[in-house]
Parts: sequence; C-alpha cells; structure tokens
Amino acid sequence: PPLDEILNLHDFEAVAKAVLPAKAWAYYSSASDDEITIRENRAAFQRIWFRPRVLRDVTSVDWSMTILGCKSSLPIYISATALGKLGHPDGELNLTRAAAKHGVIQMIPTLASCSFDEIVDAAQPGQPLFLQLYVNRDREITKKYVQHAEKRGVKALFITVDAPQLGRREKDMRMKFVDDGAGAKVQEGQKDVKKDQGVARAISSFIDPSLSWKDIPWFRSITNMHIILKGVATPEDAILAYEAGCQGIVLSNHGGRQLDTSRSGVENLIDIVAALKTKGPWPNPNFSIFVDGGVRRASDVLKAIALGASAVGVGRGFLYAFSSYGQEGVERAIQILRDEFEMNMRLLGARTISEVVPEMVDASALRSH
Ligand code: FNR
Repeated sequence: PPLDEILNLHDFEAVAKAVLPAKAWAYYSSASDDEITIRENRAAFQRIWFRPRVLRDVTSVDWSMTILGCKSSLPIYISATALGKLGHPDGELNLTRAAAKHGVIQMIPTLASCSFDEIVDAAQPGQPLFLQLYVNRDREITKKYVQHAEKRGVKALFITVDAPQLGRREKDMRMKFVDDGAGAKVQEGQKDVKKDQGVARAISSFIDPSLSWKDIPWFRSITNMHIILKGVATPEDAILAYEAGCQGIVLSNHGGRQLDTSRSGVENLIDIVAALKTKGPWPNPNFSIFVDGGVRRASDVLKAIALGASAVGVGRGFLYAFSSYGQEGVERAIQILRDEFEMNMRLLGARTISEVVPEMVDASALRSH
C-alpha cells in the first residue's frame, strides 16, 4: 500500500511480513522458545489503564524532552536492532537519516550491517547518537571500539547484559545462514561458526559470557560516556547497577528474544522504581530508567513514563518501517507517533511530559506489588 495509507506502527509489520524475504522476516520477527515473552510485552501494556484528567486547557501540548542530556523531539529512542541490510539495502542509514530530520536519537548496534563509521558519517553535525555494545572476548577490541565511538561523538554506551548466550529463536534457526553481505562479518573475534543454525547464532560467537559486575569499573575507566545497562529485569540488579555507578538501565527482555517467560519491562518498572526510591531522591537526575519491548503506540510510551520511565526504546516498530519503505517509512512512523502523542496527551490532560504522573494510570491489573 502507499505510505499514506499506513496509519499505525502495526501496519508496517503487516507490510514487512508480506514483502521481506523469508530469512529476514524470520530473523526480525522471531523470539525465543515458545514466544511467551514477546506476546507478554504487548499484553502488559494492555493491562494498564489510563486515568485521564479533564478541563486542563490542553491547547498546546509539548512532548519534547531530553534523553541523557540530549534533546529528543519524542520520549522515544530507536533501539539497536542488528543486520539492517537484511531488510533494506541502506540498512541502518535509513534510521540515521530519518532521525536527523526529526530530532530522534538512534542507538547504533554493534552488529549493524553498515559499519559504525558509515553510520556516524551519515549523521548530521551534532546529531546525538548512542551505541549498543556487545562485549568481545578480546577486551582490547572492545576498548578500541568504545574509545573510537567516544571520539566520534557518541553520547552514551548501552551495554547489553541479557545476552551472554543468544536465545533459541526457532523460526530463525530453521533458516540456513548464508552470508549474503548483510554485514554478519562486522566483528573481529568472530569464530568460525556452523552456518546451519540461523542468522543470530552465526553472528554472535564473539560475545563474552564471562562478563560480570566486576567489569563495570573497567568500562568506567576506558570511557567518559554515560554507561547504561540494557537488559535489567529485577530490583536486585537495578540496585547493583546504581551502586556500580552506571547512569541508567534499560528494563528490557531483548524484544522477547532471550530468556522466554521473562516478564515485560513495563511490568518490572513499578518494583524497580520503588527499589531505587529507597536509594535517594526520585526522579534521580543521575540515574535513568528506560523501558523497551512491545512499544507500538504513543499510549504505550505514556504509560511507561507515568510509571517512572525516562524514555522508551522502540526496536521492531522502526525496523519494520524501514524494511518496508526505507527512510520514508521511518519518517512516517515518527510522524504517526508524534500525532499520537498530541492526541493522547490532550485526552490524558498532560501538557508536557513532566505532567505525565503516576496518578494518570491504573496499573492494578498488573501483578500485585
Ligand atoms: C534486537 N535487539 C537487540 N538488542 C541488542 O542489545 N543488540 C542487538 O544486536 C539487538 N538486535 C536485535 C535484532 C532484532 C531483529 C530485534 C527485533 C531486536 C533488541 C532491541 O534492542 C530491543 O530491546 C527490542 O527490539 C525491543 O522490543 P520491540 O520494540 O522490538 O518490541
């Protein structure tokens, strides 16, 4: 369908499913084992209800804000999704260019199809970028990569901590991996891997499963970027991250692609905010909580923000947008979300993001706390 007939982010998914090669669709859409967690990521948002306030003069509403000190036109950032060229010949650059035009922040994946420098070169001067990091068994490689990123102006390092081993994504595993230039060889230290087990397994052999809390001071010693741990699920680990001096965490289950039957990020949010409140004033300007997983509507984002998230990551929503329509698809997705923010904030009675408060949601249908 023509792009102007795409009315929401779900529509992109339907188009992507219809037009993508089977291998790309399998890699992008799959989740681990029985795919319970990916389903729950959507379902959890649907158990949270709004408590809208009325008569608040919502003539002008403003959903812009800052994420880790960087201006963002939406309380959303583009989360890292690997291998963009499986879906579109321009791969991640579709995101970079659309993000530049619309003031959105992109998180560059370690396993991008385009090289890191190609992506940074495609960005506008001053365009804020984040970097997602898979830690290499060879720490010298990681150190060089991180320090190069910092030199090139990347603002924050999101270390993925929920993937010491890749989850079994069976849809993907049923596809034979053939290196067709989508960029699977981007990482040094990649071992020779059996190529009969899907895309994910073929590209992840360099990731270091020995990574531990003891490594956080080393990261701090090699970079001044903000350090965020991506893939935290419990108050225990949220507190360890805080005490380790990180600047934030992402409550994420990797889009349902890692430990199946993990809870959704938004569901874990309430307990984690409560735990961090015991550590000092809240909101804490030096420690941010992000959420990702299943976000397809501005209303999902507003629910997470009401419950204490600083901003929300979107993976597949933008991935499907550029897979089906390239850069224009991403721009349309951003426009759709912007329109949804305007309407939802008016109807909710919030003129700014800081007016989106816990009292605006009824989360009593989530598990008891
Ligand atoms: C991901 N995600 C991911 N995360 C990460 O830290 N490193 C990575 O390389 C990837 N790669 C990746 C590929 C694909 C195809 C998907 C769908 C996801 C996870 C991603 O950053 C984010 O956590 C989820 O995508 C959020 O869920 P939604 O928005 O896809 O529902």
